[in-house]
Amino acid sequence: MPAIFASAPGKAILFGEHAVVYGRPAIAVPVTQVQAKATVLADPLGPQGRVHIQAPEIQLDSDLADLPADDPLVLAVRGVQQALGADHLPALKLRISSTIPVAAGLGSGAAVSVAIVRALSAFLGHPLVDETVSALAYEVEKKHHGTPSGIDNTVVTYARPIYFVRDQPFEILQPAEAFTLVIADSGVRSPTRLAVAEVRQCWQADPDRYEALFDAIGQIAWQARQVITGGPPMALGPLMSENQRLLTQVGVSSAELDFLVETALQAGAAGAKLSGGGRGGNMIALAAPENAGRILTALQNAGAKRVIISTINPVTPDFKK
Ligand code: MEV
Repeated sequence: MPAIFASAPGKAILFGEHAVVYGRPAIAVPVTQVQAKATVLADPLGPQGRVHIQAPEIQLDSDLADLPADDPLVLAVRGVQQALGADHLPALKLRISSTIPVAAGLGSGAAVSVAIVRALSAFLGHPLVDETVSALAYEVEKKHHGTPSGIDNTVVTYARPIYFVRDQPFEILQPAEAFTLVIADSGVRSPTRLAVAEVRQCWQADPDRYEALFDAIGQIAWQARQVITGGPPMALGPLMSENQRLLTQVGVSSAELDFLVETALQAGAAGAKLSGGGRGGNMIALAAPENAGRILTALQNAGAKRVIISTINPVTPDFKK
């Protein structure tokens, strides 16, 4: 049996992180410059049911049976088994690699789950449809992120810009014109789970204030949707900066993120904000294409650990493999 592989891109939240957990709309885009990849191959020498997992980036080299039952990789494999009604698996090897930084707001957990679900279901002869792939990745997210909205697994599965409201059908956005993002990693690792839990505590302590902040963020996401689909894309800049101002009030920015946001604006970005859970991880800046290189250099000089230029095109490349 030939080896089967599947990949899934990273993602950036353009508008609406955190507020989306509380039912407000948000917008996310795939970031195809980074991706997770899963490869499944038969292990002719292994005993029936033995699944061996290798993930060199996290120094993992273990049988599935030796990992905790709530390990995300185990949950992804078991989810596929359940969806396919496959009580037993043939002996196989599962190799996972990823260029998406962990705990950096770029959707690494969701992308790994999606890649595993796709590769394993295809290997077993029943490739699952996107809806099921996303639902299985969401189950993994729920066990690991507490109260995820579902936006990460959705954008990573469909690899398209999306307008997302929790528990509602999402919408694939067709940008009127291409636009360019500069994405910079603060280098500070910040698990989304913790940021989401801290925001929840603040919301519980002062619901009126937080509901008002989430409303204002949701309004921005709604306006941004009109700009993305109707143009002109540079009008997204002020909306991003306003979203960042509100996220600072939510309490999820940080000195490092503020510095990178300020650096990008001074280098000519039309707008900039943190992206994802915040407290660390990545920020994004909107750049005129001719200015993106200058903003990248400024962010690198300001200490960003990795900087990516990503263009969101009216039709994004298909990453469903
Ligand atoms: C994470 O990419 C975005 C958050 O809004 C969490 C979620 O939506 O699950 C912070």
